[in-house]
Amino acid sequence: LKALKTSTMGQKLKILDSTVSTQEEARSLAEGGAQEGTLVIAEEQTGGKGRMGRKWFSPKGKGIWMSLVLRPKQPMHYTPQLTLMTGVAVCRAVRKITGVMAGLKWPNDLLVEGRKISGILLESAAEDEYVRYCIVGIGISANLDAADYPDELAHVATSLKMESGEPVDRVALIAAVLEEFEILYALYQQEGFGPIASLWEALSVTLGKPVTVNTANGPVTGTAAKLDHSGALLVSTGQGEYVPIFSGDVELKR
Ligand code: BTN
Repeated sequence: LKALKTSTMGQKLKILDSTVSTQEEARSLAEGGAQEGTLVIAEEQTGGKGRMGRKWFSPKGKGIWMSLVLRPKQPMHYTPQLTLMTGVAVCRAVRKITGVMAGLKWPNDLLVEGRKISGILLESAAEDEYVRYCIVGIGISANLDAADYPDELAHVATSLKMESGEPVDRVALIAAVLEEFEILYALYQQEGFGPIASLWEALSVTLGKPVTVNTANGPVTGTAAKLDHSGALLVSTGQGEYVPIFSGDVELKR
């Protein structure tokens, strides 16, 4: 990544042709003491992971499959804020490099007209309630064609190439993601989650929409209203009541 204008993010880099999951590669580097900003990129993942135990389709040479090591000095319960922050970074970079006007769906999906184009998986290791390290996994379906997708993804997923009509320069997009990420991470460390929450809200396609959220305690139906100071999604269920959602799957209703 020659033209990378960052001071830490991606400055240590491991590029792999094929791996099970860049999350596992980055985790073992982190366990070995890798510095903040260390990045693992793979051309292909044979066992790409999504949230909630799902698989992440990661065909060779078609996407951006990468994981970043972070060492934020903060309590574990703030780490969901980093997921949201990463979504903002990816969304801004995608818009800037490709012109595709993707939007954010809480907590971590990037959508174009309701179809998923990117996902984020944040995993962390703790010590005494504090973060020891985080692994921020970013998957961007860059240059997949419709024919690359298996049937079960055909109606729910899309790619930057399918949306913009031309192949994406993956190196330029990776550099832009890392640059946006570094700027937002510095802002987050200086000023906390407030400014990130505003940026996230401005790029959101969830807010103001009727949703059903499937949580461990059952479904919550209402209007996705805003983020709270922790990054939880506040769902308004009527009569001025807000239910905070800390984790779950949001279904957008039409
Ligand atoms: C999701 O939307 O469920 C999260 C998807 C995260 C995919 C990325 S691709 C790079 C990194 N390695 C993985 O195995 N998963 C993440």
